[in-house]
Amino acid sequence: MATSDTFPVVELRRVSKHYQLGDSRIDALRQVSLAIRPGEFIAVWGPSGSGKSTLCNLVGMLDTPSSGHVLFDGVDVGTLSDNQRSTARNRNIGFVFQNFNLVPVLSALENVMLPLQVGQASGRTARAAAARRLEEVGLASHMAHRPARMSGGQQQRVAIARALIGSPVLVVADEPTANLDSTNALRVIALMREISHAEGTAFVFSTHDERLLERVDRRLRMHDGILTEEPGASHPAVPVPPPVPAAQVASW
Ligand SMILES: Nc1ncnc2c1ncn2[C@@H]1O[C@H](COP(=O)(O)OP(=O)(O)OP(=O)(O)O)[C@@H](O)[C@H]1O
Ligand SMILES: [Mg+2]
Repeated sequence: MATSDTFPVVELRRVSKHYQLGDSRIDALRQVSLAIRPGEFIAVWGPSGSGKSTLCNLVGMLDTPSSGHVLFDGVDVGTLSDNQRSTARNRNIGFVFQNFNLVPVLSALENVMLPLQVGQASGRTARAAAARRLEEVGLASHMAHRPARMSGGQQQRVAIARALIGSPVLVVADEPTANLDSTNALRVIALMREISHAEGTAFVFSTHDERLLERVDRRLRMHDGILTEEPGASHPAVPVPPPVPAAQVASW
């Protein structure tokens, strides 16, 4: 499914999600409407339990709403079979996780190649594409390293390279910086933003951390399942660390 310029990448129309726990109903999302356009760099911000992960899972087609509609490139995801939905997801959306989710016995290069191999690309093509992506995230010199030999920031950069390997139109990252110190967190966000703007890939990431909101295009605040869009740069600027010289970049 190639995406077009005509439609938002993903659109939520009055989407609600509730969970039933015994007698009580939890409204994780309440009537959320949202359109994500190609190349936008978007933060979902809010306290624990506010619905950030639920929103990320719906935007990433990992879950379905209790009511309302999710559209991917203009197509109502609710009309797709499970197979069609997972094919659309695998072709178009990359994911980055809080715990990096790298395979410990594989090298950085093999981890990044993995999604292409599942998609049956040839080994040589997958290897070349993975090497390019690792160079892009500043890890050209770490291709043969296993995750255990890399810092958290480096592991998350491998995960970002893996998320980008299929050239997705959208990357969904649920708390990608939760396990990083604040300097690495800012750098990972800056890297994602750079890639987003350079390649036109839309990014949606969630965070508790207000300090990461400075450089986003759009700021979506979640509170008790309700989404409010906040204007950008309404609080004092927090300096983002300066770009790291290429020689140092691998040591984050
Ligand atoms: N599978 C589930 N079953 C029952 N309740 C759930 C389930 N998943 C989420 N919830 C509830 O829905 C609400 C929103 O949860 P969600 O995980 O989306 O919040 P969050 O903002 O991501 O929180 P955190 O910052 O802690 O990750 C919470 O009250 C949560 O307990
Ligand atoms: Mg969460």
